[in-house]
Amino acid sequence: LGKKIMHFDSIGSTNDKAKDLALQGAEEGTVIIAEEQIKGRGRRGSQWVSPKGKGIWMSIILRPDVLPKNAPKFTLLSAVAVAQAIREVTALPVQIKWPNDIIYQNKKVCGILTEMSAEMDFINYIVVGMGININESIKDFPEEIQGKATSLREIKGENISRQRLVRSILENLEKFYLEFVKEQNFQKVLELWKSMSGILGKEVRAMGNNDVIQGIAVDINQEGALIIKEDNGKIHEITFGEVSLRGV
Ligand code: BTN
Repeated sequence: LGKKIMHFDSIGSTNDKAKDLALQGAEEGTVIIAEEQIKGRGRRGSQWVSPKGKGIWMSIILRPDVLPKNAPKFTLLSAVAVAQAIREVTALPVQIKWPNDIIYQNKKVCGILTEMSAEMDFINYIVVGMGININESIKDFPEEIQGKATSLREIKGENISRQRLVRSILENLEKFYLEFVKEQNFQKVLELWKSMSGILGKEVRAMGNNDVIQGIAVDINQEGALIIKEDNGKIHEITFGEVSLRGV
């Protein structure tokens, strides 16, 4: 991954660019990085503020030869790779909030937006987009998320090299990606995900389509679904949506 890196000063969204290039046949592993995004997108149609030079705004094109039902695994895999890379480069014990937020003391440092194009039985492409807050100060964030977001510099009190972090993310991602698609080994990713989880064993609230489920996050299964146990013992498997830690 990352043999071809395209760097933009300013762009709409690196995910949109990556999807365009993927449609035009860009090869697997192509990486799009921008200094600034004008139309950065978050999950669920939200906006992702991406000020110039302050963070890593990056998308990676993957073309795994696996069935589309495996798609959620790439989201978990990416979260593990980014969390691992942040730990290596900054020594901060960041955690993962299901499915793919990276948090530090319950504040969001990184969000991942995975988008896919697939037919019934094959994946055309997956674009993994990541936004990592590196050098922002709190006032760089929109007011409504100032209490919920933070940056690596705010936490560490020193500048973090974006270049080192990008390199480490690509190395980790490649390692876990090859392990999964070439050796069908997803166990390592699941174990790491669990060991870095900020929610397992905790009381959470999950918002699905219409309903809200409240209980203890007990596990994630082989498919990457979150298992929540309600007080009455009822077990739920959550495959998409958001979770929040109760009382946070
Ligand atoms: C989230 O809502 O948590 C996901 C945020 C993903 C943001 C990244 S920044 C690079 C890539 N391009 C986008 O437009 N979004 C993703």
